[in-house]
Amino acid sequence: MPRAPKTLFLTTPIYYVNARPHIGHAYTTIVADVLARHSRTQGTDTFFLTGTDEHGQKIQRSASAAGIEPQQFADQVSAEFRGLWDRMGLTYDRFIRTTEPDHKRGAQKLFAELYRRQAIYLSSYTGQYCVSEELFVEGPPGTIGPDGKPTETVTEENFFFRLSDYQRPLIDLIESNTLAVTPEARKNEVLSFLRGNVVEARSGGLSVAHSAQGHAYVPGTLRDLSVSRTSFSWGIPVPEPAASETEKKHVMYVWLDALANYLTAVGYGLDTPEAAATFDKYWPADLHIMAKEITRQHCIYWPAFLLAAGLELPKAIVAHGWLLFDDAKMSKSKGNIVRTETILDAFGTLCPAPPPAVTLREHTASKDPATPSPAPASNHFLPPTKTQQDRFATDVLRYFLLREIPFGQDGSFSFDSLITRYNADLANGYGNLVSRTLSMIQKYFGGSIPNPRFEETPEFTAAPDGFDVSHIGVAASALQKRLAGLGATDFTTALTEIAAFVTVIDGFLSSSAPWKLAKDPAMADRLSTVLYLSAEAIRWVTGLLYPFCPSVTARVWCQLGLEDIDDAARDGELAHMTWGGLLPGTQLGPLSPIFPRADKGLAQIMTDMEHEKNLLKAAEQIAIGSAPPSTESAVNLSPEPLPTDPAAGPRTSTFAEPDPGLQVAGSNATTTERVDTPPHTEAASGIFAHQPTDASPQITIDDFAKVELRVARILVAERIPKADKLLRLEVDLGYEKRQILSGIAEWYTPEDLIGRRIVVITNLAPRKMRGLESHGMLLAASAPEGGKPILATFPDGAELPLGSRLK
Ligand code: ME8
Ligand code: MG
Repeated sequence: MPRAPKTLFLTTPIYYVNARPHIGHAYTTIVADVLARHSRTQGTDTFFLTGTDEHGQKIQRSASAAGIEPQQFADQVSAEFRGLWDRMGLTYDRFIRTTEPDHKRGAQKLFAELYRRQAIYLSSYTGQYCVSEELFVEGPPGTIGPDGKPTETVTEENFFFRLSDYQRPLIDLIESNTLAVTPEARKNEVLSFLRGNVVEARSGGLSVAHSAQGHAYVPGTLRDLSVSRTSFSWGIPVPEPAASETEKKHVMYVWLDALANYLTAVGYGLDTPEAAATFDKYWPADLHIMAKEITRQHCIYWPAFLLAAGLELPKAIVAHGWLLFDDAKMSKSKGNIVRTETILDAFGTLCPAPPPAVTLREHTASKDPATPSPAPASNHFLPPTKTQQDRFATDVLRYFLLREIPFGQDGSFSFDSLITRYNADLANGYGNLVSRTLSMIQKYFGGSIPNPRFEETPEFTAAPDGFDVSHIGVAASALQKRLAGLGATDFTTALTEIAAFVTVIDGFLSSSAPWKLAKDPAMADRLSTVLYLSAEAIRWVTGLLYPFCPSVTARVWCQLGLEDIDDAARDGELAHMTWGGLLPGTQLGPLSPIFPRADKGLAQIMTDMEHEKNLLKAAEQIAIGSAPPSTESAVNLSPEPLPTDPAAGPRTSTFAEPDPGLQVAGSNATTTERVDTPPHTEAASGIFAHQPTDASPQITIDDFAKVELRVARILVAERIPKADKLLRLEVDLGYEKRQILSGIAEWYTPEDLIGRRIVVITNLAPRKMRGLESHGMLLAASAPEGGKPILATFPDGAELPLGSRLK
């Protein structure tokens, strides 16, 4: 019987459409692309899936805040994700959207199947719901969800999934690596969640059970999971026959809907023979890739759904760490994101012009002799196209992320380190080696790969003149072996090894000094050998780098005279490189620079670009929010002046947090809200403490511009148990809702406050008080002798849109 062809089905999370893509999303998608490209070079039939997660309350709310229909909202943001992946040349095989009819049908089929097998039942539940993560969490009302915001109390009739039945099976599957969860730290986290608190159970005299592998666990730790919602409508309707069991209209829990994409993308739910064949071919998935915050859904909910539906489980789940910016997870809710577009736009400007011959080929597509294309002048360099620039910059970002962040760990992102790494490894390392070697071959051998003059032993041990060249071939084979022995996601080690090999070749080239050899006719053989070995080493490095940097390696491949690297990848040439495979006599392609050095100033340019985009986006959100266009002028649309003036001091990142104790212009209020765990009296007095004005140092307009003051409306105000001076407020900024704790309970009752328009300092770093997070601060003034702080506010009639900035 013919063996079934080897396949690899790998997935990224499908991204929520309430946030625009940032480099955190790009990171996961790049990782998947590198693995997919590598897998294709091995001749494996590869299916790389990505897409967008478009249902749920969070999306419905974001859409209504933007004043448009959820579908229209999802269409826009989904198109942004897809457009960006295309701009980056990512080779996904399918981009799925959960609002597609085929997905809906498949998700409904899964629900119906679970219901038919009695794994789903109808019941009622009251609990704390975290909207932004779409999760129920344990705890009393006011509990802070995983997103740092207060949960909402939700009582609902729901359909429930019998998750509690799967505790032991899941423990066994994960302990035995039948469902492989990596890195180890994530596996342990998931297992400890599944096992429950064994120590506490034992000391409380409760009985524990043991898994197949003999590990103790507390039976009953897993609760059944609510898998439908009635409080909003933006979701996939619960299908028949379950739907008829109740009067209420239920939509599927967004995680059940979303996870089902991994099935529906490969044909689950469609009745055609083609869909069935695709499903048979690719399911079960080989690898689900994600960041660590969603391992619970993937390692617990997802396999439990599949077990209950009688479907095969994915083989492996791998979770990477977070990209951090200013030491916090990059995320929309924190506002500390970096957009991929900024890096593409900035680094794209460094993309060298393609060499004339490439230009020639691209510009003379017509082979019709009747219309001969004008031959361009030999040194006629056309500027790079936008696509070439984007792909060049994408390669830089790919290289940086995979080289810099050990997979699985968190990594801080900064523009400075991006530039430093680029210059060190790509411009001065690989790029410089290529330019040196190929320009010498051009100069000394008329662009023809020279013939190495050494004994044809497998390892090229010695040239006839006794010159030892063995270490290059040996180092190359050793490198190949080490790379083959690495784990699939050990990108950092792979790239470090490759960079070290480049350094070895560079050293070899320098110590052999071909430019000196070229002056001595007696050294002609050695010159040929040295340059051959260097060029062959470059071919190896280029082949190995291909999955990481597909675009620039394609250029180098052409310069080596080797045509199309994508073909070489497809034909298995890259997977089976043998030392000495570069044929002497091969004519080099036209040469051009590969990686021009990046100036440090590029970091500032990127910081400024981010800054401008933030301002524009804030303005845009206000503009598409509730505000009529005529009130737009109330919003500060002008970006801060860019520090093009050399005298302008160095600017810190846009996202830099204000210093603790920053003096806020105008009110002299100090932000003692940021001091860690103050007694509440301090929190209360500190915010409004009066200081004589002349004690404040003078600040510049730029300093003031760092403080973001915005109009907000108080939606919720409530007392906090055991904190008699603090109130918990939820405020609406138009573009988002926030929780703020304020020490004004002595002077204001919650009723006084609800509905009032106030001024909030929005870019204060969040801090915790009494276990609750406060994100921002109200503006108020009190008389010099103290007493009631009066909130800065606006007359009721003022039609200022929420979120309008004060300046
Ligand atoms: O969770 N660092 O979508 P999401 C690294 N829709 N990776 C990051 C990141 C960061 N700072 N920020 C985001 C969801 N990511 C669900 C998934 S799957 C069936 C449903 C990446 O938009 C990372 O892959 O919140 C993370 O797991 C994912 O984006 C979360 O995307
Ligand atoms: Mg998320």
